[in-house]
Amino acid sequence: MRQDWFDRARFGMFVHFGLYSGAARHEWVQNYERLTDADYRQYFDHFEPDLFDARAIARRARETGMGYVVLTTKHHEGFCLWDSAHTDFTATTACGRDLVREFVDAVRAEGLKVGLYHSLIDWHHPDFTVDWNHPRRDDDEAAALNDGRDMARYRAYLHGQVRELLTGYGDIDYLFFDFTYPEQKDGWQGKGPEDWDSESLLAMCRELQPGMLVNDRLGIPADFVTPEQYQPTSPLTLDGAPVAWEACQTLNGSWGYDRDNTDQKPATLLVQMLADSVSMDGNMLLNIGPDGRGAIAPRDEATLGEIGEWMRLHSAAVVGAGHAPFEPPREGVYTRRGDRLYLHLFTWPLGHVHLPHLAGRVSYARLLNDGSWLRTTDADPEQVASNMTPAGEAAGTLTVHLPVRRPDVLVPVIELTLAGE
Ligand code: GLC
Repeated sequence: MRQDWFDRARFGMFVHFGLYSGAARHEWVQNYERLTDADYRQYFDHFEPDLFDARAIARRARETGMGYVVLTTKHHEGFCLWDSAHTDFTATTACGRDLVREFVDAVRAEGLKVGLYHSLIDWHHPDFTVDWNHPRRDDDEAAALNDGRDMARYRAYLHGQVRELLTGYGDIDYLFFDFTYPEQKDGWQGKGPEDWDSESLLAMCRELQPGMLVNDRLGIPADFVTPEQYQPTSPLTLDGAPVAWEACQTLNGSWGYDRDNTDQKPATLLVQMLADSVSMDGNMLLNIGPDGRGAIAPRDEATLGEIGEWMRLHSAAVVGAGHAPFEPPREGVYTRRGDRLYLHLFTWPLGHVHLPHLAGRVSYARLLNDGSWLRTTDADPEQVASNMTPAGEAAGTLTVHLPVRRPDVLVPVIELTLAGE
């Protein structure tokens, strides 16, 4: 039951916002550039999110066809976007605002599900031990930095802050913990479930928010798995059984605002990734990184606008849809919702698309973007191809006849009504 809305939504928005947004060089800038707390303090002192508008973000998510929105409450930098009693390294201290409060109120007002991201990692906390991910790992005498650091104190802080988030902001529908790295590297320890006391943390989540989905990055099994920045190639399973999964993806490779990044993905690719994920019973969580003032970057607004226009016409092929047990043609992927089968065409063929094993099983075909009928014919094994007439498709093949001009949409979709379903 917990995940019915998740399975139906299929498409969500990830929002990475923090001090790194003002640094504008990726959310791992503190790690990449080995920045000290003193180096990093300027981003706290000049944190001025005057253009952070949670209502605009939530509205953009809804207009993009997304069913849920997930905000970073605290990223690896340790900066908290809510009014935490456990630290003054917060947005409330920096600018007098509780951005998590603004966010949850805005997302609910748009009728969307509320998701929070919370980093297990904390490069600011004095008791979080230096490890192979820590910005101080290459300092002279780095190992000595751990003298006096007590992960038990950090665990108490971590659990206390999660408790604040799960008791102070109403019903939370989804929690994305990030991340566990138990392997050793470069002579340093990693951090595994025991470092977080993941079992107790998950138990607290279940106690405080029984309906909330929790991801797999506590390092112990929970509600869904989280491939990141790649596309699976088949429905994901765990011990042979289907598992709920969500691929989180960026617009340009960076989660946090990265001003000089030019790797913006084309909207067509992103829609293909969405359709591909749904075709494998998965979700896509697509990220935006608001800039140093909290605004959605114009390039991201433009991409989301293109996707939103596609979803305006094609959401039926995504929302409430999932894997279809049919062999797709080479030109695309299928999704299915009830008696409707949707063929997402990643390439536009000349004149026809041939669908294996669907002859006699389709009562109507149309282009979804404009509802225009499409002629279909069942393969006739007796018919021989000639110079001007294609034939010879395998018995059971359904051929859909297509206009030469590809519809002017990011990804054309053919909707097939399955007969007798
Ligand atoms: C990785 C990155 C982190 C990002 C997360 C999103 O864990 O380290 O910066 O927030 O992916 O899933």
